[in-house]
Amino acid sequence: MTDTPPWWQTGIIYQIYPRSFQDSTGTGMGDLQGIRRRLSHVADLGVDAVWISPIYPSPMKDGGYDISDYTGIEPLFGTLADFDALVTDAHGLGLKVLLDFVPAHTSEAHPWFTESRASRGSARRDWYIWRDAAPGGGPPSNWLSEFGGPAWTWDPATSQYYLHIYAREQPALNWRNPAVAAAMLDVMATWYDRGVDGFRVDAVEHLAPDRLLRDNPANPDWTPADGPARALFRTFTSHQAEVFPHVAAMRRLAEAHGGRLLVGEAYGNLDEVMLYYGGALDGFQLPFNFHLIESDWSPRTIAAFAERYEALIPPGGWPNWVMGNHDRSRIASRIGPDRARVAQMLLLTLRGTPTLWQGDELGMVNEPVPDEMLRDPWAINNPGTGIGRDPVRIPIPWDDGPGRGFTAADPFLPLSTVASVEAQSGDPGSMLALVRALIALRRAEPALSRGSYTGLHADDAVLAYARDHEGRRLIVALNLGDRPQPLPAAGRPLLSTVPGRDLSAADGLLPHEGLILAA
Ligand code: NOJ
Repeated sequence: MTDTPPWWQTGIIYQIYPRSFQDSTGTGMGDLQGIRRRLSHVADLGVDAVWISPIYPSPMKDGGYDISDYTGIEPLFGTLADFDALVTDAHGLGLKVLLDFVPAHTSEAHPWFTESRASRGSARRDWYIWRDAAPGGGPPSNWLSEFGGPAWTWDPATSQYYLHIYAREQPALNWRNPAVAAAMLDVMATWYDRGVDGFRVDAVEHLAPDRLLRDNPANPDWTPADGPARALFRTFTSHQAEVFPHVAAMRRLAEAHGGRLLVGEAYGNLDEVMLYYGGALDGFQLPFNFHLIESDWSPRTIAAFAERYEALIPPGGWPNWVMGNHDRSRIASRIGPDRARVAQMLLLTLRGTPTLWQGDELGMVNEPVPDEMLRDPWAINNPGTGIGRDPVRIPIPWDDGPGRGFTAADPFLPLSTVASVEAQSGDPGSMLALVRALIALRRAEPALSRGSYTGLHADDAVLAYARDHEGRRLIVALNLGDRPQPLPAAGRPLLSTVPGRDLSAADGLLPHEGLILAA
């Protein structure tokens, strides 16, 4: 007898960045009808859920993460009716729909902030974090904005500073005010009632910065390449104890709606990430694990991390892995196109729910974005540094026609240089074919989705591990190096990352080859 795990344990999440997915209205920017039109691509991949980055009304100072109405739809993207139709279509295709919930800050254009900044006596003044200048003048603490410069902006009309952990157009909400917490939970409930299957919760580590506004300590190892915000540790702004009761309240609400999924975004070390599971598993079901984004690609590092991660996850907790998103350099640019194929095998065979970033299934790379097209406040605030996220947000190349099938207008960012979905669909050696095959195998083999994880081997080039379920053992052997390597364990090869590989002759690992074997 086997128990049935919740869908999100055996499932795969696919991240859609709506501006870059499909334009259906000739704005040069993607929209909800565009996503509907391309849902079959997502369903054909074999994934289980889409997480859609913010689609709410927004001045777009931070790509939609600056929200001026939490329960509406940005007109550029469509209407609530379009959204309902999208949910219906997705569910019809067997896809769950996760939205992005952005609790830590609104847009400065949100009516709450307009009211808050109107006067010190405003009924909503305390919905945001306002403070007097420091005794000698200047900001009340040394905290830095993630996008550069101080995290405090002076409001001359009311002679106080307000806090913004990100752009100055993103004032931080004050979750210590119970009215704010209640209003934000109502937002979640509204979307649950509309049929949403869960949320990815944005920047949750910043929900309750230190009450005493203590200065963050300097980071002695900082270099300019780390970006200006990393000059300080985030000791008093991230992961504060007061964050976690709010996470627990979100989880209670998700459970009260029949067990919706919460995926939490909190960048931190492994001990910090573990906090988001919650003491009694009353945290997020899936606190994002960003190791494959943040760390180097040495097999030893990955193996050591996987061991430690497996050991730290609380009983009943479930792992997850992320290899790319709209904020970080594309995997194919970080490690090169050959190793990116091996990396897809890794992502889709480790124990835990994978999140697949749109376009990584095509091997998309970071593309140069000319200064005049920059959209990202991080890039705009740090000219000449190469910092910025626009190069990873390039529109999906659907075909080789004008606008690459993405738009009939001028695209809001440059177009991609990689082969299109259409071209790759007809090419058995393409990255798309590989990702489809990996997902199909993962679905066919419960050992890959549900099986236990045992590390087998790690050296400078090769990483190998086993996945076991009900007597079936699959072995994953990955050569991240550029020389042939012996197989670290015996088995019958089922799938290789190398196009055209004769599996019957696969008795070793080619350079940059990943193999899945049945033991
Ligand atoms: C994390 C999001 O992924 C990123 O795109 C955004 O800029 C910040 N949070 C602020 O919301």
